[in-house]
Amino acid sequence: MFAHFVQANDANQLEDVLKRHAGSIACLLIEPIMGNCLGIAADPAYIRAARELCDRHGVVLIIDEVKSGFRVARGGVQELYSVQADLCTFAKAIANGYPISVLAGREDIMRKIGRGVAHGVPTLRIRSRWRRRRRRCRYLMKPMRSSASRPTAPGCEPA
Ligand SMILES: Cc1ncc(COP(=O)(O)O)c(C=O)c1O
Repeated sequence: MFAHFVQANDANQLEDVLKRHAGSIACLLIEPIMGNCLGIAADPAYIRAARELCDRHGVVLIIDEVKSGFRVARGGVQELYSVQADLCTFAKAIANGYPISVLAGREDIMRKIGRGVAHGVPTLRIRSRWRRRRRRCRYLMKPMRSSASRPTAPGCEPA
């Protein structure tokens, strides 16, 4: 498995790479607003061009919304830039410290993934760990559920 790196905001370079490696690139992964770099933002025109290039070359566009999701706009960077990813990832922006993440995307791709998604490396022995994780999640969710149903301050009712 190889990764090719392209200069941000350079749609010509991206097109060159997609042409040079036609048929062998599965996906393009972009974080349009870089949450770990003081929010450095890509040019919206570049992200839209990347969307078009992915469509033209049959490449899955993955947008990393780990930090931008629900923050830069309700619909994340995809709403802000009027672009739709094939797959997108959410984590810190929805989790705020809790071990929660979300992978969303096109139904045909999501159906292929089924239940086999796990965080981090290595992801291979997922199935055997899956049950233990589910038990741990239930254990973590219990206090969260009960505190969410309790008012946090006098006069403050849960939504
Ligand atoms: C913007 C962004 N994307 C992806 C990741 C990777 O997340 P994980 O380590 O949960 O796979 C991080 C983690 O710091 C991140 O900040």
